[in-house]
Amino acid sequence: MVKKLLFVSINTMSHPLNFPNFSKTPPNSSTTATTMQAPRYSLACTPIVTNLTHRHRVTPTVTFRRTLQQPISAVAAPALTKPQKTHSLPPEKIEVFKSLEDWSTQQVLPLLKPVEECWQPQNFLPDPAMPVDEFNEQVRALRERTAGLPDEYFVVLVGDMITEDALPTYQTMINTLDGVKDETGASSSPWALWTRAWTAEENRHGDLLRTYLYLSGRVDMLMIERTVQYLIGSGMDPGTENNPYLGFVYTSFQERATFISHGNTARLAKESGDPVLARICGTIASDEKRHEIAYTKIVEKLLEVDPTGAMTAISDLMKKKITMPAHLMYDGTGPTAFRALLWCGSTARRVHGS
Ligand SMILES: [Fe+2]
Ligand SMILES: [Fe+2]
Repeated sequence: MVKKLLFVSINTMSHPLNFPNFSKTPPNSSTTATTMQAPRYSLACTPIVTNLTHRHRVTPTVTFRRTLQQPISAVAAPALTKPQKTHSLPPEKIEVFKSLEDWSTQQVLPLLKPVEECWQPQNFLPDPAMPVDEFNEQVRALRERTAGLPDEYFVVLVGDMITEDALPTYQTMINTLDGVKDETGASSSPWALWTRAWTAEENRHGDLLRTYLYLSGRVDMLMIERTVQYLIGSGMDPGTENNPYLGFVYTSFQERATFISHGNTARLAKESGDPVLARICGTIASDEKRHEIAYTKIVEKLLEVDPTGAMTAISDLMKKKITMPAHLMYDGTGPTAFRALLWCGSTARRVHGS
């Protein structure tokens, strides 16, 4: 039942591959510039973005106006406008998760891979231990392969990479869930063991995509790095209310969405002549599928032991709609995530004259 629901609802997600206005040609920033508005900020800095109407834009000048009464902050995060509900799990239901610890040890933890059996980014990247000529040759070959990929492809791949790179936020989010959080940072509870090892597996995704993109020379790494810093500083608000029922329904959808997205970038890379990138995205997609299996297994178990509680959580999230992890993506120059991605394609770089 959960799997059916997941399949039906996947199109509701806000994800780079699912933007309703995504087209083969990114909109020219000069046509969208006049409609831009500065986002609202919750912290001490207010950006002033200039040059918004210039036909061939240069990198916007962003300055910060400091309010003397407020502390200096390194991060200007977009403000959340909707109220945030917390700790909606009734205290007695924490026992449900306590009673499932043995089950989790036997059924969920085996879905993690031992480190020695895991791939690492280095398995897919030029080997820096090689003589410099051979290393340079491998980088040259990588650049030749990625030269055939369209800019639009990189817009999506960068979105995926930035999303993966904001991993600290996701571990934080899972550790807000009552009854399954890692109470000490090194708890021996199977829920905590899963979360730490899941995070460690996920950590390789952003590392590999980031390094591959860096070596390709096709993207604006400075804008990407700024966007990642903004995004981690902003966090996320999936509406899970510290409630593990909601949390595990959410992660089931989120893993399915990333599986689909990485699977699509694998297929497109293969079609555009980069089999290595296709293998990279496909390998990441298979990790996401394994994670999806784990999280849906937990939701299925909750449907078995507490059908009303589990169905209520599924219904609640369907009403809220699934908000993907990078919904607060922001590059420092405009209010939308999509705009942040436009900066990363080489077309955008040419348009902006950099
Ligand atoms: Fe991932
Ligand atoms: Fe994942």
